[in-house]
Amino acid sequence: MSTTMATELFFAPPAPPPPPPASWQLPPAMSDTAPPVDGVYNFIFWFSVVFTVVITVLMLYFVVKYKRKPGVRPEPTGHFNRLEIFWTVTPSIFIGVLFHVGYSSYIKNATAAEGATEIRVRAKKWSWEFEYPSGDRVPSELVLEQGRAYKMILSSDDVLHSFFIPEFRLKRDAVPGQYSFIQFTPTVTGPAQVFCAEFCGTSHSGMLASVKVVTPAEYKEFEKTLGKCVGTPEECTPTKYGETLFVKNACATCHGTGGNGMLGGSKSPGPKLAGIYNTMQPMATGPEVKADENYIRESILRPNAKIVAGYTTVQMPAFVMKDDQLDAVIAYLKTLK
Ligand code: CUA
Repeated sequence: MSTTMATELFFAPPAPPPPPPASWQLPPAMSDTAPPVDGVYNFIFWFSVVFTVVITVLMLYFVVKYKRKPGVRPEPTGHFNRLEIFWTVTPSIFIGVLFHVGYSSYIKNATAAEGATEIRVRAKKWSWEFEYPSGDRVPSELVLEQGRAYKMILSSDDVLHSFFIPEFRLKRDAVPGQYSFIQFTPTVTGPAQVFCAEFCGTSHSGMLASVKVVTPAEYKEFEKTLGKCVGTPEECTPTKYGETLFVKNACATCHGTGGNGMLGGSKSPGPKLAGIYNTMQPMATGPEVKADENYIRESILRPNAKIVAGYTTVQMPAFVMKDDQLDAVIAYLKTLK
């Protein structure tokens, strides 16, 4: 053995652990949302197996034991309160437990982790497009860093699709005209697959994308390939593009410079936009509303849908914007402090 080889062997970084093998029922588990989902799945599966066996065996036993015999007259059974209460209360408790385990793991991937990296996922007939924070749009391939928290912001350009990654145990509908979200952290490196899980036309089954979960070091290499924008410079990042649209549409005329809600030292005719993202906003009528992506989108497309408290007359015209323009304006508003 030469010295170089020995050094290489000695200093070679440890190989990433292989993905856990697929079980006879489930594909490999590659994200933090997989263990709780698998837990619920296995719990319900074995719960059902045990009860199927117990009920079938008892049924067969009773069929034989109480088979009609010549010369024996059946005696009607009376009311047995204790037994009836037992078989009403026990299943109710079981169903309560099932609901609890199912709901708590559902909530885990329905709520976004603090500081999660946002990836914009656009579904269309029949492909997936992924937009990284750098503004790069990559069709049909999603590269993710192991151990990093992600928030996927999904939408559809045409019909109902569903974003489904079996290895991550994740599925969420992509709905036209609305954003939906899903969060997770990939825990294991390796390949995974995006499927569309909602019948969306003749090429639905071909609506696939590949997923690569890579180590942080490999992700650094991948990141170097991003940010090489081919559009006009001002359109290179969603934030920059959003600012351009904000200026072009003269939003500052009513909302103040940078959406600060001030105009010539007094309150501007339109409400303040800076710093409102993800905060609760009081409404002129009805309960407070969280200023999330869907609220901002609705307020641009249908300004009268929800009116902020203190602004009774709404003179803002409805803006006709394409999905990517709305995304860009929302990205820009998020940066306003
Ligand atoms: Cu998209 Cu099925």
